[in-house]
Amino acid sequence: MKILVTGAGGQLGREMQRVAGNMPSHTFIYTDVTDEFQKLDITNEAETLAFVEKENVEVIVNCAAYTNVDKAESDEAAANLINNVGPRNLALAAQQCNATLIHISTDYVFQGNGNTPCVETEPANPLGVYGRTKWAGEQSIAATGCKHIIIRTAWLYSKHGKNFLKTMMQLTRERSELKVVFDQVGTPTYAGDLAEAIAYIIATNQHSRQGIYHYSNEGVCSWYDFAVAINNACGNNCRIAPCHSDEFPSPVRRPHYSVLDKTKLKRTFGLKVPYWHTSMLRCIDEIEAIQS
Ligand SMILES: NC(=O)c1ccc[n+]([C@@H]2O[C@H](COP(=O)([O-])OP(=O)(O)OC[C@H]3O[C@@H](n4cnc5c(N)ncnc54)[C@H](OP(=O)(O)O)[C@@H]3O)[C@@H](O)[C@H]2O)c1
Repeated sequence: MKILVTGAGGQLGREMQRVAGNMPSHTFIYTDVTDEFQKLDITNEAETLAFVEKENVEVIVNCAAYTNVDKAESDEAAANLINNVGPRNLALAAQQCNATLIHISTDYVFQGNGNTPCVETEPANPLGVYGRTKWAGEQSIAATGCKHIIIRTAWLYSKHGKNFLKTMMQLTRERSELKVVFDQVGTPTYAGDLAEAIAYIIATNQHSRQGIYHYSNEGVCSWYDFAVAINNACGNNCRIAPCHSDEFPSPVRRPHYSVLDKTKLKRTFGLKVPYWHTSMLRCIDEIEAIQS
């Protein structure tokens, strides 16, 4: 099977490349907007249609996104292009070539004012531009009528790029004290686990099971709990104090409770999902191996 991975230079895109190493019977094509990969700007409709048609891919895994949640507030046009217009272009291409689009979305499509894990049918009500453009992207994909799977995920981290885990590994090493918010609750998710789940769906030929699914690691914690766990796992001695979100001025409101219910995904695809703390330790080991 021929599989196109867009946004290959991002956290999930790079983890897709790692897991693809275990799928030798499939051909992967990696694209991004940088020279490191075959160039494909998903916001360019003609280029995207021509690329997908020429390569005749069966599955498209869209890892491309505008993920800077704060910056999106003052950059809505760019966020909308990448998070909404781009996915629509990929969906049109998938529709034209009878391919399946596996698209990644976010817990930020939810308002996050509940106290039970969000199921896929819960109404979306994003609080900011990032969530709004990602939600628009989901709707644009569905409107094309292409074969698609949308996987909403949350709190992604990996050894690549910038993320909370890497920031906290550094800050808890360098500082003696730190404040971290305890009133935002969700589930940290190792991008490697999500990539493995996507690869499993493709490798077991289950990508025909269309729909919206939720994927995060198992369990629940606040950013404060996550930071304490990172501090402890790294053997750092930073004193971490819990604080409220309003102590950190931010241009965007974030969901207070955006735990994703993964029951549908686990039942449909027969997937097992690792516990967040176990995966966090795995990723810290990977990062420390690079640093040593
Ligand atoms: N990160 C999180 O905490 C989080 C949480 C929930 C859901 N998600 C979703 O999970 C998915 C993967 O996230 P991630 O953290 O791996 O994202 P990421 O690291 O920001 O990677 C996104 C990649 O897309 C590329 N890109 C940007 N504009 C593009 C365009 N026009 N055409 C093609 N590629 C383009 C980016 O290139 P540049 O770097 O050069 O812009 C980057 O390489 C996204 O859909 C995201 O919305 C992420």
